[in-house]
Amino acid sequence: MRIGVLTSGGDCPGLNAVIRSVVHRAVVDHGDEVIGFHDGWKGLLEADYRKLDLDAVAGILARGGTILGSSRVQPAHLRDGVERARGHVADLGLDAIIPIGGEGTLKAANLLAQAGLPIVGVPKTIDNDIASTDVTFGFDTAVGVATEALDRLKTTAESHQRVMVVEVMGRHTGWIALHSGMAAGAHAIVVPERPFDIDELTAIVGERFSAGKRFAIVVVAEGAKPKPGSMAFEERGKDIYGHERFAGIGNLLAVELENRLGKEARPVILGHVQRGGTPTAYDRVLATRFGWHAVEAAHRGEFGMLTALRGTDIVMVPLAEATSTLKTVPAERYDEAQTVL
Ligand code: F6P
Repeated sequence: MRIGVLTSGGDCPGLNAVIRSVVHRAVVDHGDEVIGFHDGWKGLLEADYRKLDLDAVAGILARGGTILGSSRVQPAHLRDGVERARGHVADLGLDAIIPIGGEGTLKAANLLAQAGLPIVGVPKTIDNDIASTDVTFGFDTAVGVATEALDRLKTTAESHQRVMVVEVMGRHTGWIALHSGMAAGAHAIVVPERPFDIDELTAIVGERFSAGKRFAIVVVAEGAKPKPGSMAFEERGKDIYGHERFAGIGNLLAVELENRLGKEARPVILGHVQRGGTPTAYDRVLATRFGWHAVEAAHRGEFGMLTALRGTDIVMVPLAEATSTLKTVPAERYDEAQTVL
């Protein structure tokens, strides 16, 4: 078989572990040939690629980022995107393409699969919001980074009797905020799934200080919004790919809480540090398993599917199903977090 692999969308720790696993399983165990497209779908659309052999993937298991590069270019953004992809797949004699990506990438993968291309997807995102899989690799690493940051911020917050408003990633869902907030014992967790009431949030933080505590930690997902009319809030619109760019809810909340409470508040935007660096052991294992199973699915001719974790098993799920909805934080998970605040 000749297999093409690519990484697309925002990077995330564990991408290299998938690439390595695909190459090991395909080349060593099946005698396949593997090529890697550069910079996501862009590489497929421009036939920009390199051969991936065992030497090419040596030493990358624990490395963050992606050796192939990534971009947010999607075939659907180009008028002839699908036909260009089809042409290059035929010219290169590819029997399977393994795109590794999040929501946008998997939608593109589904589009190409519907057009008859031999696609086996692998889900990735630190946001953990792909509905068809219990967990995506990268999430565990991001939660670990955010939790360590929260632990560290507690000590400086206490020294200065401050409110720390820590903004974590999570455009549409609050999984990183929920898990890091629970792990670090944050005093309030604010997620996009549940628009917040600024009066309630101020009361929660205020009661802490009234009870004699010297600091408060608020974790807020970047996509969180106040209840309409609850406080001044303006979204900034879309970036060049149509993704929302946020007004900076961490900054806004810190200013609002400081003014309302008369306590110093500082915003801390963790940003891309959550996506950088070495993946945790959990993420390396999940990524490696996804890569292995993607190659197996390709050999079985199971196209138009993606790898998914269900319980402790890796299963194959139709791409169409995987891209139809996002996995949001359910109300009961949020309530569990509230009781430990
Ligand atoms: O989807 C993953 C993610 O890290 C989001 O949490 C975040 O909103 C977005 O990517 C940031 O994207 P970019 O790297 O394009 O700034």
